Amino acid sequence: MTEFTVNYDIKIFDDLDALSEFFSSELKKQADSAVNKFNLALSGGTTPKYIFEYLAKHYANTIRWDKINFFWGDERCVPPTDDESNYKMAYDELLSRISVPGKNIFRIKGEEDPEAEAQRYSNVIHKTLPQQKQLPVFDLIMLGLGEDGHTASIFPDQLHLLNESKICSVAVHPATNQKRITLTGKVINNAGNIFFIVTGKNKSKIVDSILNYNTESKNYPASFIKPVEGKLIWLLDKEAASLLKGN
Ligand code: 6PG
Repeated sequence: MTEFTVNYDIKIFDDLDALSEFFSSELKKQADSAVNKFNLALSGGTTPKYIFEYLAKHYANTIRWDKINFFWGDERCVPPTDDESNYKMAYDELLSRISVPGKNIFRIKGEEDPEAEAQRYSNVIHKTLPQQKQLPVFDLIMLGLGEDGHTASIFPDQLHLLNESKICSVAVHPATNQKRITLTGKVINNAGNIFFIVTGKNKSKIVDSILNYNTESKNYPASFIKPVEGKLIWLLDKEAASLLKGN
């Protein structure tokens, strides 16, 4: 693993197993040492799917799952039985394979009216999480990165969602017009820990652009993820990191 620090950490792993092991042991360490409930926001996407499988296989009996409250950073507006559902993916790969009380699972109801659901989910987060600077504080938020620079469901043509005062908002996928519900930028940046999890050669260009502050990076929502007081760590595989200097 190569490691260097700026005002965030970058960790580069040889393969997905090594990355998943790091994520899993960090989650265990942080959740086990939490005094109260540990509030975790999951992400959709291909790498989280691998990590969830890894957690179910190697950590099902070692993490205090009952201490973790599961939230989602974003959800597609589809029913929970749909293959596009981020909840379904997490349920199939992880939640159905570990022992976690149902009351700890706070899914976004993709089948409901999006605006009403964004409001309901904002209220749930507001009531359940501790606050700092009048915003909820997640202990850990997992984020993915799209090739277009989106993160959670904040897309480049909807940069205003970074500064919204709502906890959750409705977003629209620019290519498919699929509605999404997403945490907004200020809430993401208020987290205790943010892990950007990015793998694959197809992400190398966007990773290089964001981490080297290329001119076009200001058009990418992911460039604006900077925790106010928390920690930001980029977990990359060798392919995603291949254009970064020194790799
Ligand atoms: C989603 C996401 C999204 C995702 C990125 C990366 O629900 O689609 O949460 O932000 O993390 O698009 O996805 P991949 O890992 O599949 O490239």
